[in-house]
Amino acid sequence: MQQVFGKMKVFITRQFPKSGLELFEKAGIDVEQWTEQRDLTQQELIDKCKDADALLAAGRIELNAEFLEACKHLKVISLFSVGYDNVDMEKADELNIPVGHTPGVLSKATADTAFLLMQATARKAFHHHKRIAKGDWEFFDPLQDLGQELQGKTLGIFGLGNIGYEMAKSAKGAFDMKIVYHNRSTNEKAESDLGAQKVTFDELLEKSDVISVHANLSEETEGVFDADAFAKMKRSAIFVNTARGPVHNQSDLKKALEDGKIWGAGLDVTDPEPMDKNDPLLDYPNVCVLPHIGSSTNETRDVMAVLSARNAIAGLQNKELPARVKPE
Ligand code: 8YV
Repeated sequence: MQQVFGKMKVFITRQFPKSGLELFEKAGIDVEQWTEQRDLTQQELIDKCKDADALLAAGRIELNAEFLEACKHLKVISLFSVGYDNVDMEKADELNIPVGHTPGVLSKATADTAFLLMQATARKAFHHHKRIAKGDWEFFDPLQDLGQELQGKTLGIFGLGNIGYEMAKSAKGAFDMKIVYHNRSTNEKAESDLGAQKVTFDELLEKSDVISVHANLSEETEGVFDADAFAKMKRSAIFVNTARGPVHNQSDLKKALEDGKIWGAGLDVTDPEPMDKNDPLLDYPNVCVLPHIGSSTNETRDVMAVLSARNAIAGLQNKELPARVKPE
């Protein structure tokens, strides 16, 4: 890595893995990390960025037009995430601030979380765990809280990119699931490797036994899983979301589960986040919720740290970012 002259500084909004910090050290870049266990306010972030040349943003802190205008001196913004829905990309482009992200490196870990939620929901795993903790494991009842099998069922992927592909591949390998998907573009690789079939949104809703969301959050995808969509799904269907909470309408989802319009839901993302501890969804037997842990493995956090550090360093050296956000 080339030495940067003058003392450049990156501000990081969280404690950061060693694998990434080492790269900044090698490049001669000063690092300041926010170590408090709370999000910075917008004003605190602006103040911290005043004497920084780069921002490395971990956690879903909002980088809106006001923030970008106040910090237009930044040479680069590097996100510790693949998603960039928290950034006003139009404004960043207008101000010529390159934005980097971490595509590819977290696909398997995130898909594994979707797969885990699909299975956990199908077998009501979290509910059974809670039952034992409540002392409700007294005798064998052959009809109590039965789950569903996934063998040979149809998995519908909403947004078939890298993460959706990994989820489809696991489901095909483990349960020989039939893959249908809804996407703007055709995913040739998924079609040839996995026999995936592109369908309309309505067909996805009607045909799938499990729907797994892997799309970016955008104006186009916000709230698409609403009451109408849930009503078109099979009554036995499982809804899984590991992408962004606002892609589903959470009160419509609650109602659909209560009314038996769909069978269950596995959520790694909620709307809002964090979810309130008294949210009724946490008590539904056919619902499994995780606190947005899609990419949180040692291995994946290390490679995300390396890629996001490389993005920041490249921006500070006026070079092409290894992974620059290219909004569609
Ligand atoms: C992160 C994510 O954990 O990559 C993403 O888009 O949602 C997760 O990997 C989260 O955004 C924290 O930065």
